Amino acid sequence: MAKITIENAKPLVGGIVHVDKAHLCDDDVIAQIKAALEQRGVLVFPELHASDAEQLAFTDKMGPRVNFTRKVPGSDASTPDVYKITLDRNLNSEPDYVLGTFFWHIDGVTIDQPLPKATILSARHLSESGGATEFANLYAAYEHLSDAEKREYADLRVIHSVEAAVRPVHGHPSEERRERYRNLAAVMEQPLVWTHADGRKSLLLGTHADGIVGMPGPHGRAILTRLIQWAAQPDFVYRHDWKVGDMVIWDNEGLMHRVVPYTDQARVMHRTTIAGPNKPGHPASAEDQARIFEIA
Ligand code: OGA
Ligand code: MN
Repeated sequence: MAKITIENAKPLVGGIVHVDKAHLCDDDVIAQIKAALEQRGVLVFPELHASDAEQLAFTDKMGPRVNFTRKVPGSDASTPDVYKITLDRNLNSEPDYVLGTFFWHIDGVTIDQPLPKATILSARHLSESGGATEFANLYAAYEHLSDAEKREYADLRVIHSVEAAVRPVHGHPSEERRERYRNLAAVMEQPLVWTHADGRKSLLLGTHADGIVGMPGPHGRAILTRLIQWAAQPDFVYRHDWKVGDMVIWDNEGLMHRVVPYTDQARVMHRTTIAGPNKPGHPASAEDQARIFEIA
């Protein structure tokens, strides 16, 4: 029997990986997983039941691990580099950022360091209802735009902030909270269309996208909202209904993701992250940040 087989989940996104856990970190298996991740965007390992140690070993084989949420509670010292995604305050004392996962996002976009290349999540406990995770392929979303749209969007730059990412969580944040966001993350300017080293292009989108450089706020936000709706159409999206023990890895550079809302504090996912070599953006200028709060 082959050590690994991979089938498509949907024509434009997703793959299901069948692999013997004993061979998960073999060099030839890792090479096939890396190739499939590039082609399929998100890969599911059904009921793999990886321990933290096994998930970290796989993470390290896929690339250099990074913990970009070190400053956020939930990355506790007992399992360094494994971040708990849960609403259980005993495991994660500040679930604000976990509630932010209910909205389309890319991990680590508002941090002034290379964008995390891939995220790995494994399901430890599920919620009674909700809790499926959706992944939207932003390469496909770009590819299927019309030529006129591709020309219109080619050179646009977008302002991304934590404040925007958690606006649907908190509404208007207090000054104290805004101060915390400033210490935690940067307001970043990113290209709307990201041309990768291999020449492929993807849209860089999410709830953290708060305006377009040089445009009044509403104009930029309207374009971004329309593009998020475009990218979230069913053909570009793989939705994963979890079973305990499932492990999923996705290309964080080219997919955005969100979870179907849940209230159940029992849901616990363990997350590890692979550092990327690419930094498509840079901190936004004060002037460009201010412009997206003007209305004309
Ligand atoms: C994440 C995330 C979604 C989920 O771990 O970065 O967005 O399903 N998780 O919990
Ligand atoms: Mn996320």
